[in-house]
Amino acid sequence: MSAAPRPIGVREYARRRRELMRLAGGDAAILLAAAPPRLRNGDTYWPYRQDSDFLYLTGCGEPQAVLVLLPGRKAGQSVLFCRERDATAERWDGDWLGPEGAVRALGVDDAFPIADIDDILPGMLEGRARLYCHFGREAAFDAQLLAWLRRLRAPPGAARAPQEMLALSHLLHELRLFKSPAELALLREAARIGMDAHRAAWSALRPGVQEHAIESTFLHAVRSAGACASYPPIVAGGRNACVLHYARNDAPLRAGDLLLLDAGAEWQGYASDITRTVPVDGRFSAAQRALYRLVLEAQQAALACIRPGRSWEAFHLAAREVLVAGLCALGLLAGTPQQALARGDYRRYFPHKTGHWLGLDVHDAGDYRIQGEPRLLEPGMVLTVEPGLYVAPDEALAPARYRGIGIRIEDDVLVTADGADVLTAALPRHADALEDALAQARAAR
Ligand code: GLY
Ligand code: MN
Ligand code: MN
Repeated sequence: MSAAPRPIGVREYARRRRELMRLAGGDAAILLAAAPPRLRNGDTYWPYRQDSDFLYLTGCGEPQAVLVLLPGRKAGQSVLFCRERDATAERWDGDWLGPEGAVRALGVDDAFPIADIDDILPGMLEGRARLYCHFGREAAFDAQLLAWLRRLRAPPGAARAPQEMLALSHLLHELRLFKSPAELALLREAARIGMDAHRAAWSALRPGVQEHAIESTFLHAVRSAGACASYPPIVAGGRNACVLHYARNDAPLRAGDLLLLDAGAEWQGYASDITRTVPVDGRFSAAQRALYRLVLEAQQAALACIRPGRSWEAFHLAAREVLVAGLCALGLLAGTPQQALARGDYRRYFPHKTGHWLGLDVHDAGDYRIQGEPRLLEPGMVLTVEPGLYVAPDEALAPARYRGIGIRIEDDVLVTADGADVLTAALPRHADALEDALAQARAAR
């Protein structure tokens, strides 16, 4: 087995900050806050997850921190405000970085205690023409920001406050859309761990097992690899697969049904997003196999459209064309494919798009359109390709044998210089290959 990829180094974070400052311009300031801890209930918090933008620019996993980027500032362009070390608090929380540790470990130019931010930050913004920030994302941070600006504008001798407030996301998310070699290594590792965890889940699959038992096997595999789930797994047996965001995972899996498992791993902040749909008892029925083949053909048609210069929409349209033609041929839609497309009633079976960007977020940052037009794919972008068909149990248009079947096939794909690299290609997706893999998984237990 190859060694785990190296974590992203401080030089890459510094390069990202420099690039963002270059895009923002010399008279700008950029402000970005760490994610606040989120209460689950009472005094119990959800596991902390850093804001992906903050993580992208700092590599810092601590809450109560603010990054300030000040292009051209002589005393240091990258400034971090963070918690001061506190022996009493660290007995409860574990080690904090502290400002000195932040300069050492994160490679920022300068760092100050977060407790001093109200005194120090307004002066840093003075004379900057433009301020880039995520205004409207966190109410508490918005209020703090307004207070700093009020201080700057207050007479007497009102200082020069930034005149323009601009959305940081346009600049920053365009950077995040193009993955560096170091990021790609982490995405590949997230894909590898996710694929292994799907295989582990298959080895626990048999009629009578509960959906949550499959979930726990998946999570066990992911956590055993030192990763975590990149989103709550969807473990949907039979008709539950027709509920697109099924989350209960509390039903028994029955012979004759399919299991749709949509679950991925997060490795050092980077996500995989993988769906396989497999027969609970190891064999697809004829009706399941017919729909499965259709979804697979749609995915293959979509994958053939992933290369530089093709539009963001092309692969969705290719998948849709195959699905609609197949639904007409199998008698789930009336008339010709052209008529079905014009009516739009294919959406009752295929209500979602065929993919999304993938990176630090499962639904990653980055515009899908530029000036209203679908953008063109470029090398370094990573996306999912995930057509599906979902025939509701009470779907009057469908022959009875297809009702209650939900199928999705989802893979993670890198746009390369001349085509596509499917990061999750090692996990079987042809119906025969899946049956073989399930038989092997069963034999091994
Ligand atoms: N797992 C979420 C998605 O497929 O988009
Ligand atoms: Mn997805
Ligand atoms: Mn998914």
